[in-house]
Amino acid sequence: MLVNGRHYRTVWLEKNKMKMINQLLLPHAFEIVSLRTTDEIVKAIKTMVVRGAPAIGATAAYGMALGVASASKKNFDAQIAQTAKKIKAARPTAYDLFHGVDFILDSIKSAKTPEQKKRLAIKAAEAYANASAKACEKIGEHGSKLIKNNYRIATHCNAGWIACVDWGTALSPIYFAKRQNKNIFVWVDETRPRLQGAKLTSWELLNEGVAHAVIADNALGHYMRRGEVDMMIVGADRIAANGDFANKIGTYEKAVLAKENKIPFYVAAPRSTFDLGCKSGSQIVIEERDEGEIHFVGQCRVTPKGAKARNPAFDVTPAKYVTGFITPLGIIKPRAIVRAFRK
Ligand code: MRU
Repeated sequence: MLVNGRHYRTVWLEKNKMKMINQLLLPHAFEIVSLRTTDEIVKAIKTMVVRGAPAIGATAAYGMALGVASASKKNFDAQIAQTAKKIKAARPTAYDLFHGVDFILDSIKSAKTPEQKKRLAIKAAEAYANASAKACEKIGEHGSKLIKNNYRIATHCNAGWIACVDWGTALSPIYFAKRQNKNIFVWVDETRPRLQGAKLTSWELLNEGVAHAVIADNALGHYMRRGEVDMMIVGADRIAANGDFANKIGTYEKAVLAKENKIPFYVAAPRSTFDLGCKSGSQIVIEERDEGEIHFVGQCRVTPKGAKARNPAFDVTPAKYVTGFITPLGIIKPRAIVRAFRK
């Protein structure tokens, strides 16, 4: 998508280095970071220089490819296994991360020599990122059909192009609707504690010229009850086979409120977010992040010294609250997930 008129992807490979937009500095500074080692890439995922499920999936694929490319001939396979293990341990909830690593492992497993594996791994990572961008574009195409002229759409966290390789999941239908000249407006939850909505979604929408307002996390119910929200679209970090899904903390309560107010609630996600091996939401591991993220807003401590905090990064929303999943294959009901995606 465009940043000051120039097309960027969120992550890419350039001369055997991984490049990514530093999401920690947005919206006030735009910086590209350059990474080479597995440790640097794992740190970027953990500290959220790169975040958002499909973006960390592509980062994992590139990270694996660079790990394979730099492995020495001695104990080659053991080094690759170690790289995979390190990357998979970076964050626990987004299935894309695991999908990205496994995709590279699968792509190189039939190659005979380390040299062949190195070449294949780089090719596979590029193919993974391209397919991921294409999948999000398809999500936009299908999802935009649900958006009528003058719709006011709510979203939570950032599920835009910066959370993916390109286009976004929840925001992709919005970008398509905008290009179709529909008059649309977006309610953007600020998304405490990391403020992905206030910092990233608002930045993306401004760049694309989409009208929106950032609201406090506890304000959306107010607008829903007043009839000022026509639909809600969110992304997902892991979707279980029964349609329960994990997404940014706060998603669950918005889904319940949407049902209470008879507002259609859609979840936009590519195939790489669906974990068919996971039967229901109760099996999804929820990341608990440092409590400092709650105590501080920027540099400023807001809780009294000595206070304790809890900081779950995601919650699980039961399938019964989902009107439909917007996928590259089209709109799918929760009960149709397994049929749609099992090869
Ligand atoms: O902790 P984050 O910022 O990685 O969480 C991101 C989200 O919860 C997104 O909604 C989700 O990954 C979907 S991204 C297209």
